[in-house]
Amino acid sequence: MRGLSRASAPAKVILFGEHFVVYDKLAVVMAVDLRAHVSVKPRMDNKIIVESIGMGLQGEFTLDGVYKPIIGEFGEDKLRPIYVAAKRVLDLAGESIGLNITVDSRIPVASGLGSSAAVLVATTAAVGSLLEMNLCRDDIFRLALEAEKIIHEKPSGVDPAISTYGGLIAYSRSGGVMMLEAAANLPLVIGDTRIKRDTREMIHRVSELRRLYPEIFKGLMDAGDRVARLAVEAIRAGDLRALGHLMNINHALLYAIGVSNTAIESLLWAARRAGALGAKITGAGGGGCIVALSMPEDRRRIAEAIRVTGGEPLIADIAHEGVRIEE
Ligand code: MEV
Repeated sequence: MRGLSRASAPAKVILFGEHFVVYDKLAVVMAVDLRAHVSVKPRMDNKIIVESIGMGLQGEFTLDGVYKPIIGEFGEDKLRPIYVAAKRVLDLAGESIGLNITVDSRIPVASGLGSSAAVLVATTAAVGSLLEMNLCRDDIFRLALEAEKIIHEKPSGVDPAISTYGGLIAYSRSGGVMMLEAAANLPLVIGDTRIKRDTREMIHRVSELRRLYPEIFKGLMDAGDRVARLAVEAIRAGDLRALGHLMNINHALLYAIGVSNTAIESLLWAARRAGALGAKITGAGGGGCIVALSMPEDRRRIAEAIRVTGGEPLIADIAHEGVRIEE
């Protein structure tokens, strides 16, 4: 066993297919260059102490999961998935040691950029490396997805997949991960509404509406899948204009399933008026972020339009590398 291990994993933007991917439709997703860092050390006792520097939270778990806060009263919901991720790796290795886990993430939380999945992927990799287990990326993805199940109702796996593999991927539940090569750079501008939202609640809202209108939902979901498949072709051909159109169509479908709101629409229209080729929600919606596709020369103008409309702009570039052990 090592004395210390560190790992990091990237954030993501979903370019096509959020929500529909929960129902086994295709999603297209890109890793972006903001990373969550996790370091892990063994402890002499058998407590698992989890600390999130960014959230100002620290808590203690016994090996059988009993929680006690150390810093911050209401941190259990945020810290428990990290404990679960670590515990699954310990169980797989047949170890029952204590750990100090420290999370230092640059990814905005609850904003649709995959911060929780990136933390779970980095935690899984760091604990695996501490125990010298040689986990491969498929193992890390599978274990992190198991831990994500305690956050969401029924996660599709798209978030831990992109944080694990990095780059640009097409993903579906039944088809798994397909790495994509883009024939052109995809210049993106992200706009954060600064409204925190809960993915679990948004997934629940969509499933309720689907229960009421199953036929309409089938049509919308099949259209979403078709849009994502055409987007894969446009990415391979480097056709930014087609991608922009497809993003606008995808957003209209997300609007139809009830996950947009006025803050999101304001940022979208600000981006479009400033010259975006297309713009849509990215992630679960209800707040969080939008993503706009731009010509390279228009990125600053679009970012400024998002800022004056009250959003927080972020110019994001692709992260080719997924999860990584930091030596
Ligand atoms: C969240 O980033 C994406 C959703 O489609 C949920 C999921 O796929 O697990 C809303």
